[in-house]
Amino acid sequence: MDKKIFQFPQGFVWGAATASYQIEGAWNEDGKGESIWDRFSHTPGNVQDGDTGDAACDHYHRWEEDLDLLKELGLNAYRFSIAWPRVLPSGRGEVNQAGLDFYNKLVDRLLKLSIEPYITLYHWDLPQKLQDEGGWPSRKVVDAFVEYADIVSRSLGDRVKNWTTLNEPWVSAFVGYRDGRHAPGHMDLHEALAASHHLLLSHGLAVPVIRRNCPEANVGITLNLTPKEPASPSVADRDATVLDDGYNNRWFLDPLVGRSYPQDMANSFGDEMAFVQAGDFNVISTPVDFIGVNYYTRNIIRSDKISELENTPRTVFRGNEITEMDWEVYPEGLYKILGRLYFDYDFPAIYITENGAAFNDQADADGEVNDPARLSYVKRHLEQVHRAIEAGIPVKGYFAWSLMDNFEWGFGYSRRFGLIHVDYATQKRTFKSSAKWYLQVIQRNAVN
Ligand code: FCB
Repeated sequence: MDKKIFQFPQGFVWGAATASYQIEGAWNEDGKGESIWDRFSHTPGNVQDGDTGDAACDHYHRWEEDLDLLKELGLNAYRFSIAWPRVLPSGRGEVNQAGLDFYNKLVDRLLKLSIEPYITLYHWDLPQKLQDEGGWPSRKVVDAFVEYADIVSRSLGDRVKNWTTLNEPWVSAFVGYRDGRHAPGHMDLHEALAASHHLLLSHGLAVPVIRRNCPEANVGITLNLTPKEPASPSVADRDATVLDDGYNNRWFLDPLVGRSYPQDMANSFGDEMAFVQAGDFNVISTPVDFIGVNYYTRNIIRSDKISELENTPRTVFRGNEITEMDWEVYPEGLYKILGRLYFDYDFPAIYITENGAAFNDQADADGEVNDPARLSYVKRHLEQVHRAIEAGIPVKGYFAWSLMDNFEWGFGYSRRFGLIHVDYATQKRTFKSSAKWYLQVIQRNAVN
């Protein structure tokens, strides 16, 4: 049987991603300040099994060895985030030189290995001091973020060209301040809405600052985008789907392209939104060079308001392929999202900044870690990326989540997303079979 080869365009960026709190450890070393995730994970009951990021993958100490693994994996790009409280322990004001030095060393070594650094400035570890001032719901944090973006881009901007301001502001705002499942663990819709606005504002104000410090910068923002599909053609399910799409996707996409917040959502939240000030939407829609998308699954939406009359049978879309996160494997959703970003929102370039799956990987008797389900997941998603490129959608790169197993937020160490297995007791790293396969994809610039 002929096997189809999916050849990627020349210059396509192949990477893997991590985030500071999930891998670094060294939570209170060398002058680092406390973050909201330190505080949250140290509070009993918040994280599964009482896990914390205190040691995580110990990357802060093992960074050289870890960068060698990146090289061994054949990556030409690495997406990582900076721990804000490592650089500014109080969130603003005094700079902790040791913190900046750490990222400078990392960048220098990456460049030496010919691996392009892709920096994310904020992947959820807000300095606790700023939370004490009110956190993202307070407009005061905006200036602090811009100050932080200025300091980091001045220090690294001569060498780092690719900058992402925020990772998944929806999660920061709504999971952190509305659902309480993430730091700082609040449950207040108004706070979440204000947080979302101040996150977007921080992004918009930081873009020109980064460009000033790094004239060649490629600057963007990363959103978690999830296709929403109705469980049935009933009006109730379809209406609920539109609202869920508004909540998760349009609430961030629309203002980024200058359309302000979607009216149906503003109505459904029923908040006065007094935190919006004149001129804010101009700032938020400062043009970006790219949009980053983190894609994992889709959501099937079932309204509980379905009427007797409408009670048509509901299709169970859910396949029997489910990851450890209980997320459906649905590669085609990535194609749908990519098309929407280009055809509906007109973003000039798109990176998949995260995509991957958690499975309960174990080393076998020979110490090998075989993860065929992850390999198949990545393969089928890459086929959809290829399909999008063929359709003319400007997808420039793909970052696997994650380089290695790490601290999966509220799930602690119980969910393994890595291409590289980590034994947390010994900190031993082992390439899973998916990593060996990914290396070949990168070398051939093709999936087959
Ligand atoms: C995303 C996060 C990332 C990781 C994956 C599984 O929402 O950005 O840190 O936790 O999910």
